[in-house]
Amino acid sequence: MKEVMILTGAGQIGMAIARRTGYGMKIIIGDKNPENANEISKIMNEAGFDTIGMEMDLSSRASILKMIAQAQNYGSITKMVNAAGVSPSQASIETILRVDLYGTAVLLEEVGKIIAPGGVGVTISSQSGHRMPALAPEEDEQLACTPTEELLQLKMLQPGHIRDTLHAYQLAKRCNEKRVMAESVRWGDKGARINSISPGIIVTPLALDEFNGPRGDFYKNMFARCPAGRPGTADEVANVAELLMSEKGSFITGADFLIDGGATASYFYGPLKPEA
Ligand SMILES: NC(=O)c1ccc[n+]([C@@H]2O[C@H](COP(=O)([O-])OP(=O)(O)OC[C@H]3O[C@@H](n4cnc5c(N)ncnc54)[C@H](O)[C@@H]3O)[C@@H](O)[C@H]2O)c1
Repeated sequence: MKEVMILTGAGQIGMAIARRTGYGMKIIIGDKNPENANEISKIMNEAGFDTIGMEMDLSSRASILKMIAQAQNYGSITKMVNAAGVSPSQASIETILRVDLYGTAVLLEEVGKIIAPGGVGVTISSQSGHRMPALAPEEDEQLACTPTEELLQLKMLQPGHIRDTLHAYQLAKRCNEKRVMAESVRWGDKGARINSISPGIIVTPLALDEFNGPRGDFYKNMFARCPAGRPGTADEVANVAELLMSEKGSFITGADFLIDGGATASYFYGPLKPEA
C-alpha cells in the first residue's frame, strides 16, 4: 500500500505543493468544485502522479470525514496539504468564517486524530493575518483553543464586531496560525508536525479575482511597491512547503512562515505604510 496525502483545495498553490511533496504517494484531492479537483487530478496524473479528485466542502465536518475515510481506503495518511479557501472578494463574511476559519480548524482537528506517526501537514494562511494589529492575549487564546463547534459563536466573530470581508479574512487567517500552534501539541503526541504558510500576493485564480475586485488597485500597488517589486508564484510557496514537509524541517512545528516579498515589512515600516 502507498502512503497517502490529503490535498484540500485544487488550486494553484495546492497543486504546486503536492507536486513537490507527493511523488510516490496516493494523493486524494478534494475541492468544493469537483471540476477543479478533477482538472488538477488529470494534470498531475498526466505528469506521473497518482491522484484522484473528489468533491469536498471544507466548511462541513461530514464532508471532511468522508474525504478522510476515502483516503484511508488507500493506506495510512502521512501528509496533509490544506490549500482550500475563499478570499475577501469572492465570498461573504459568513462564508469566509465558515470556510477559512471554522473549516480549517475542523480539518486540523480531524486529520490530527488519524495522522500517521512521522506525518506532516501544512495549511495555507495569509499575510492578511500578519497585517491586522495584535489581538488581546485572551482573544488569541480563544482563537487557538475554543472547541471547533463553539468557534463561530465567539463574541469577536459576531456581525457587529466584523467591519467587512477583509476583516473577516484577517481574523480567519490569524485563527489559522493560532490553531496550528495549539494543534501542533496534539499532532506532536502522535509524532507528527503541522505548520502554516502565510503567502503574500501569489498569482492564482483567487488573486486574479482580487486584482479585478474592489481592492484591485490596492493589491497592484502592494506588489509594485513591496521590496520584491512583484507578486509571487505558487512554486515559491511550494519551496517553503517542501522544506517544512521534509526531514530538513523535522524540528519545525507549530510555526507560521510569512512569504510575501517583504510586503508586510513595507506595510509597517516602508512605503506601503498607510497614511495616518
Ligand atoms: N493567491 C494569493 O495571493 C493568496 C495569498 C494568501 C493566501 N492565499 C490562500 O491560499 C489558499 C489557496 O488559494 P489559491 O490562491 O491557490 O487559490 P485558488 O483559487 O487557485 O484555489 C482555491 C481552491 O479552494 C477551493 N475552495 C473554495 N471553497 C472551498 C470549500 N468550502 N471547500 C473546499 N474547497 C474550496 C476553490 O474551489 C479553489 O479550487 C487559500 O486559503 C487562500 O486564502 C492565497
